[in-house]
Amino acid sequence: MGVFAFARYSSAALGYQCDLEPAVKKVLIHCSTMLTTVWLVIIVCAFWIMRYCWKRRRLWYLASKIPGLSGYPIVGSALDLTGTNEKCLKFLRTHLKKYYPTVKIWVGSWLWVAVSDPDDVETVIKSTKCLGRKFLKDVLDHGRAGDGLITLSGDKWTYHRKEIMPTFKLSVLKNYISIFQKYSFELVNKWSSDANGKEMDIFNVICYYNLHMVFSTIMGVDIDSNNKKLNKYLISIHNLKKLIIDFLRNPCPKFHSLLYAKKIKNNTKDFVDFPNFVVSEKISSVKNKMIENRSNKEYESQSGNIKLGYLDHLVESLLSGSSVLSEEEIRGETVSTMFAGFETTAPGSSFALMLLAFHPDIQDRAFQELVDIFGYDKMQPATFEDLKEMTYLEQIINETLRLYPSIPITMRDVEEEIPIKNYIIPADCTIMINFLRNPKYFTDPDKFDPDNFSPEKKSTRHPFVFKPFSDGPRICVGAKYAMLQMKVLLSTILRYYKILPVGKLEDLERLESTISIIPVLGVKLQVKAILNGAILTQTPLVNSDTRARALTSTLQRSTQQTEWIFRLTSCSGLDPRPAGNKE
Ligand code: HEM
Repeated sequence: MGVFAFARYSSAALGYQCDLEPAVKKVLIHCSTMLTTVWLVIIVCAFWIMRYCWKRRRLWYLASKIPGLSGYPIVGSALDLTGTNEKCLKFLRTHLKKYYPTVKIWVGSWLWVAVSDPDDVETVIKSTKCLGRKFLKDVLDHGRAGDGLITLSGDKWTYHRKEIMPTFKLSVLKNYISIFQKYSFELVNKWSSDANGKEMDIFNVICYYNLHMVFSTIMGVDIDSNNKKLNKYLISIHNLKKLIIDFLRNPCPKFHSLLYAKKIKNNTKDFVDFPNFVVSEKISSVKNKMIENRSNKEYESQSGNIKLGYLDHLVESLLSGSSVLSEEEIRGETVSTMFAGFETTAPGSSFALMLLAFHPDIQDRAFQELVDIFGYDKMQPATFEDLKEMTYLEQIINETLRLYPSIPITMRDVEEEIPIKNYIIPADCTIMINFLRNPKYFTDPDKFDPDNFSPEKKSTRHPFVFKPFSDGPRICVGAKYAMLQMKVLLSTILRYYKILPVGKLEDLERLESTISIIPVLGVKLQVKAILNGAILTQTPLVNSDTRARALTSTLQRSTQQTEWIFRLTSCSGLDPRPAGNKE
């Protein structure tokens, strides 16, 4: 309004002061209106910038005290983070090492502060001032993927977590061991035809079995491998992980969200569709079970004593009216847990196998531990007691995660200032918690040495030097689950096969991060069947073992399954076939 009044006033003034042609007068009026508008825009912008600077003065002040990369004006270090994921991860790892223990990185106006000193890590991990992960919610179609533990914060996160934690108790997890074992037997049986030293890329196959283990245990459903929704879901995960990484390194994340809005929306839809399908199936199956049991007058909800798996417990509580989570919240949680559980243990097991292939002495020691537990009987399924005895295998898994952590960097929003040893981490930045291969605490930090996790060494080390599953209030809910699952899978493979290396050990250092970490050149190795500890030179062992076939036959999905993996992975840009077999 002010602009128009001013314009009218100027036109009157012009008309009075000089006797100009009406056309010229009109132009002058336009000019003065425009000029006024420009001035007003400049004043509003200046005011906005001043307000922005005033609000961020403390953040800038505290950031200026922290060493690290200042980057270029406006974009910060965003340009250094462009290019391949491998290059980006290398850049981060180099600078985290260079500026150890605390480093700042500007990505546009977004400040990241990475901490690596164990005392600082402990302070941050245990703090309640940095519990959120809003940036993840922003990219997942602004929360349209539903809210689960991964994206939630505040009170909602607290009561969700309280409801979910009991479903990951050891008493529940123990029931899953036989399922892990069944799928592990199926995997070794599947490899039997390749157990003659053929080069294999095992990553996608391990992912595949891992996925089925997650469904059969936590979700309590058997999923048909040919399910179209599942296929789309896996492709959407692959795409979303890429979008999340691109979002994180974009100097203007909001612009990224706008630019890729359609892609994010489409992928979020597929990402949500499949978990929704699983929840709906579970609801109808639990309903039927309840009706059946009620008509037999036997029904009594088991969800109270929490012996049920994750989804069974949530759905039973919902249907029996004792749930604190609504159906929508259960759907959001399922999306979140599937995402967190999928692919985290697969890199862990794959890296462990590759490292064992390159370190035959360590592999032999692990094998000896298994012989001490099972003798040479390969078909004896592992019990919880057996798994507890696999202490050296546990050291191997820990050492693998130290060198190749499945989640290399944990990021959280800082809501309030957090004082650490030498600095104050400002509010409104993002904290990055990471565990370097730290020469201060490991004599040869790049060497694979499971004895780094012997009880003696562990007891003399700061506990926060290494926390692959994090700690504090947001500690990974699946930590025990993951450890049991990896132990069953690795022990079964080692009881059946000698793992041999392909390529060079240095190739393992070529890493890329798509949230979880994977080797750029794939997970290639050879397996050779063993009998009583000796490599079998002729017939593949498992196919000739009738007991093995009997145990795995119920789970075998024949060639259909392999075709499915090929379809799936080639759609998502991954190809599990060995290098020389891609015709
Ligand atoms: C090797 C395997 C795994 C590793 C290394 C791992 C690591 C992590 C890490 C570092 C976090 C972040 C914690 C933080 O912000 O402080 C996390 C969170 C989480 N993980 Fe895992 N994880 C693994 C397997 C699993 C599995 C198998 C599941 C589920 C079945 C799972 C479920 C979750 C959930 C739900 C969260 C979010 C917890 C919360 O924010 O409250 N994880 N995990």
